[in-house]
Amino acid sequence: MGQGSWHIGQGRHPAADEEEALRTGLSLGMTLIDTSGNYGEGRSEELIKRVIAGQRDGAFVVSKVEADDATGDAMARACEASLARLGTDHLDLYLLHEPTPNAEFSEVVAGLERLRAAGQIRAWGVSNFTVSQMDDLFRIPQGDRCATNQVFYNLGGRSSERDLLPWCERHGMPVMAYSPLGGLGASLLSDPVLGRIAAAHACSAAAVALAWTIRSGNVIAIPESGSVAHVKENAVALSLTLAPQELQTLDAAYPLSGR
Ligand SMILES: NC(=O)c1ccc[n+]([C@@H]2O[C@H](COP(=O)([O-])OP(=O)(O)OC[C@H]3O[C@@H](n4cnc5c(N)ncnc54)[C@H](OP(=O)(O)O)[C@@H]3O)[C@@H](O)[C@H]2O)c1
Repeated sequence: MGQGSWHIGQGRHPAADEEEALRTGLSLGMTLIDTSGNYGEGRSEELIKRVIAGQRDGAFVVSKVEADDATGDAMARACEASLARLGTDHLDLYLLHEPTPNAEFSEVVAGLERLRAAGQIRAWGVSNFTVSQMDDLFRIPQGDRCATNQVFYNLGGRSSERDLLPWCERHGMPVMAYSPLGGLGASLLSDPVLGRIAAAHACSAAAVALAWTIRSGNVIAIPESGSVAHVKENAVALSLTLAPQELQTLDAAYPLSGR
């Protein structure tokens, strides 16, 4: 499990609380921090700079480039800007935030590979790609160097189980699940079914939702929180195994059909 940061550094919580929340997550094993050059126009990356200062090696930093910046010189400039805001000389993973037109895949992959060869990124991946876009990506030279696909996936949003998750498993590729708690303002966590399972484990509904999301071992969930208390609840998912009967109960409450 990692930590998201879409709304971090933008006044939703006091900045000091958000920094402490992310540091707490790092110390509890949620070492991957997911951000993007466009989150809060760079303010998310600037706050993360303060979190990882002095402990860069203890964090796995993921940032993203927008599709509009993915061709020509723009990608290298976007990456430089992210590195400067994060105060680091490399990203552990750089993601294409959303698909470009398929005709641009070769140029995008070539740009990402140039950044990798220059040591500015250790690996690259994509986000919001469909199976058909993944197939097209893998037909491009070096397209199969893609390390992950980051997609919307949670108990209430399971559609990627139909095709994308099996595709990634077949290709030995981990999936990153964004909005694993349902997203900002979602009602998922107040569901009584989740609440009952959480009570049986003496943990929070969030921990159950996250344990469900990462249950296959091939999915990395990146919950976002600017609250130390919530981060501590979320980290419980790392050591929570749901029983087959509990998984069945959740499956019945949130069936794949229709989602
Ligand atoms: N690639 C993409 O296109 C894309 C799209 C969306 C998101 N993302 C990434 O995925 C990350 C997570 O997704 P998300 O922010 O949409 O949604 P999320 O992680 O599902 O939900 C975040 C919300 O849950 C609350 N929360 C966290 N832990 C909680 C707990 N234990 N109990 C109760 N509430 C809790 C947070 O509030 P508090 O701060 O108060 O805890 C926040 O309001 C983003 O930050 C971003 O890094 C990527």
